[in-house]
Amino acid sequence: MNSGKILSGKKVAEEIRAEAARDVAELAGSGVRPQLDVVLVGDDPASKVYVGSKARACDRLGMASNTHRLPEDVAQARVLDLVHALNADPEVDGILVQLPLPGSLDTHRILDAVDPAKDVDGFHPTNVGLLQQGRPRLVPCTPLGIMELLRREGIGVEGRRAVVVGRSDIVGKPMAMLLLHAHATVTLCHSRTRDLASVTRQAEILIVAAGRRALIGPDHVAEGAVVIDVGMHRLTTEDEVESLFPGDEERRRRFADKGSVLTGDVDFVRVLPRAARITPVPGGVGPLTIAKLMANTVAAARWRRGV
Ligand code: GUN
Repeated sequence: MNSGKILSGKKVAEEIRAEAARDVAELAGSGVRPQLDVVLVGDDPASKVYVGSKARACDRLGMASNTHRLPEDVAQARVLDLVHALNADPEVDGILVQLPLPGSLDTHRILDAVDPAKDVDGFHPTNVGLLQQGRPRLVPCTPLGIMELLRREGIGVEGRRAVVVGRSDIVGKPMAMLLLHAHATVTLCHSRTRDLASVTRQAEILIVAAGRRALIGPDHVAEGAVVIDVGMHRLTTEDEVESLFPGDEERRRRFADKGSVLTGDVDFVRVLPRAARITPVPGGVGPLTIAKLMANTVAAARWRRGV
């Protein structure tokens, strides 16, 4: 199936992890073991899965990690106390507050409390500002992983027309900024963009992080475009699977096995014939995010400890 077109995030993520593992081994020689501390509030099932993957990734690379679990109804002051304690702990190199937080908490206030030097998500206003000014320090992991994928796959960005769909602080905005600094001509679209397809058809590089299943169909994509799908949605009925992946026996088997399969913001099967390169879901952007989180934690350890 057009496998030369598929941009495998798994392969590049493995390369990034191997480099991080080498760095961890080197740091061990100086008596340093990078440590990531994750704050998980409440019982969101997707967040639990992500946090578990992050802890396992640390383990595999020989990094230390702790997950701090707090109940859904925790007081804001208790979360802030925990963040302050992690800021003050010299063993902690990276702090990640898993999002979304319950509605009762003030997300900005909590993210603002994280020491910018330990902010491996790159969400603190200091790190956001540094990225905006073109002197990035800690940068959000998903857009960073996508830039690395483009670079390692030899997909040039300079002078090309890039369209980003979605304006979140986690992906869309930092993605647009990284592309701009890499000298792309960047358009940032969102839910109120009029005639989205006419804008996305201009893209030589199309990055979709809108959080809407199968938003992007063949009419949204120019022949020969590179398509990066950041979306992650769970299909839970056979009809949904059949409508997005008609006749795909392997996916049907996976559905029968697990009761659900994943898909993205792009209607992969129908867009595939138009795209020059395209990331699948799963196995595209997802693995890159965690690999970059590991790399950010190693970088934070090096900078803060001066090794
Ligand atoms: N929730 C979904 N994506 C992310 C991410 O990149 N970082 C954090 N902290 N939470 C998330």
